Amino acid sequence: MLKKLIAVIATLWGATGLVAGVVLGVYMHRQINHPFYFLLPFVVLGALGLVPASLILLLLRPGTWKKRLAVVAAYAAVITLAIGGPAAWRNYYETPRNGGPYLVWSDDPKTTVTVCWTAEQSAPARVEYAAEGSSEWKATDSGATHYPKVKLAALLPGTKYRYRIPALGGQEYPFQTAPAAPEDFSFAVYGDNRHAGGFSWHSSVIREMQHQDVQAHFRFVLNSGDIVERPGKGHGWQWATFLRDITPLAASRPYEVSLGNHESGGDPEPFAEYFDYGHPEHWRVFDYAGVHFIMLSTEDNLDPGSPQFSWMEQALDNKPADTRFTVVTMHKPMLTHDPRERYNEPGRRGQLEPLFAAKGVDIVFAGHVHSYEHHHLPSFEHVITGGGGVLLWAKPVPGPETVKTETVWHFCAVDVKGKTMSVRALRTDGSVIDAFEVQSKK
Ligand SMILES: [Fe+2]
Repeated sequence: MLKKLIAVIATLWGATGLVAGVVLGVYMHRQINHPFYFLLPFVVLGALGLVPASLILLLLRPGTWKKRLAVVAAYAAVITLAIGGPAAWRNYYETPRNGGPYLVWSDDPKTTVTVCWTAEQSAPARVEYAAEGSSEWKATDSGATHYPKVKLAALLPGTKYRYRIPALGGQEYPFQTAPAAPEDFSFAVYGDNRHAGGFSWHSSVIREMQHQDVQAHFRFVLNSGDIVERPGKGHGWQWATFLRDITPLAASRPYEVSLGNHESGGDPEPFAEYFDYGHPEHWRVFDYAGVHFIMLSTEDNLDPGSPQFSWMEQALDNKPADTRFTVVTMHKPMLTHDPRERYNEPGRRGQLEPLFAAKGVDIVFAGHVHSYEHHHLPSFEHVITGGGGVLLWAKPVPGPETVKTETVWHFCAVDVKGKTMSVRALRTDGSVIDAFEVQSKK
């Protein structure tokens, strides 16, 4: 009698887990239209129901204690593997592994580029480089480190080069310096590619970026932050995975990041080990072919009167005479219509919008909210491009400034042609979410 009761309860438990998994899976899939959001609750709740239920039913069957012990041992082995396997994999990818190479700008894009990579063995770093078509190789060396950053300097503007790293096998990669004068060019911008609980679709986004790059020839890639889930000790596998993902693009063009809340902090600061702005602050400015780029840090004080705010006011004023557009990147957005309070930075819009309007900012690219949002403000466009691969859970509702919103993995391809900047937000299959143009105010 007792055995029957236990069998009924176990069966009900297993069936409830399965049904709950399906119901929650259907609900989540309705929120975010991707099979993963059905499979996740289905697998988790299904397993919570079926694993203990089937174990109990097996143990209730007639048999020897040896057989029962074998069943328990088999279940224990499967559960240990399911829980411990990912952790073992992550430990294998602990910092530092050989990763990269990837390019950044720590100085003038016209005459310098900084070649970065990560090395399992700390050894003196050497980069060899030559102009395209030339067999005259030069070399730049730096000291022994696990995180080499070798700045190639005194390069010619608007010139194609190639480089190789003997320590990484000597494969050659192309790159080109920024032109001396304005010209047509394209770049890519996106953010929030980080893992969440071990899941990320970053490689799908990068794959489509590579696909678009065949036509667009992106000169550089901007990331609006949240590139890893956690930066510090024990999370080196995330940096290794991030570098693995970006290397196909970043080995041959600079990859620039606006610091996000997920990679900020740590002592020593992991972000500074992987990226080099040429100075310790997390904000920066650079010019490329008549476009003025200001990359802010919402993870440092950005209130009026703060060092970063004062610096930003100067950076907005000190534009080259040939500037056609001013672009700002920042992690946390000035506004979002995601209903959850934690995504809103109280007062930020009031602090920045009048300044950006007065100083001729044309477009802002932000992240943090895991979706695409395009807001049309009276003086400039405001884009949240926070679907670079992270789990999607934001659900913005259209607001008065909203042009388009969609919760989907994506990136933005930007073409600058003469006095027109064209922005296309693209899904991972290349289809268009949103496309718009910005005309130069000059
Ligand atoms: Fe964030």
